[in-house]
Amino acid sequence: MYDPRAVCDHGQVTEIGRETLSEETFFDSVGGESTFRRLVHRFYQGVAEDELLRPMYPEDLGPAEERFALFLIQYWGGPRTYSEERGHPRLRMRHVPFKVDRAAHDAWLRHMRTAVDELALPADAERQLWDYLTYAAASMINSAG
Ligand code: HEM
Repeated sequence: MYDPRAVCDHGQVTEIGRETLSEETFFDSVGGESTFRRLVHRFYQGVAEDELLRPMYPEDLGPAEERFALFLIQYWGGPRTYSEERGHPRLRMRHVPFKVDRAAHDAWLRHMRTAVDELALPADAERQLWDYLTYAAASMINSAG
């Protein structure tokens, strides 16, 4: 089981040791890479239509979609391609250029909720994923604004 509180004490979302576990990873149990790609693709469909969020993202959403998918795949126990390509996630730092206030947080989570719902995961897995996403989203707020 992965701890949704796996945000380290300096506020960065990080991965936690799971390689010692012999049980199936969360990544495998929810269907592997294709599940995370579906999640992120649906999420970005929401972002593409969002007046607040869309301007924050690069014009070409494709590479952003890829970065986010690779991050989640790695976080949940799949291949570590994200860090091979991008280094340590340092997510709070990477979000500094963007104004992540309460409104952005709410919009982000709204699109994510739709995407999670459409995966139709078993209740336990869905709760684990959602707890993580809500906790991580709150930790990304960097502006009162
Ligand atoms: C709370 C609201 C959030 C907003 C408004 C937001 C916004 C953004 C924006 C504008 C980017 C740049 C897109 C790109 O070029 O890749 C980005 C990147 C990214 N975000 Fe967020 N984000 C939020 C929360 C989160 C959360 C909760 C996570 C993790 C669970 C996350 C993970 C990522 C990752 C992995 C990247 C790419 C980092 C890289 O450059 O390698 N974001 N985000």
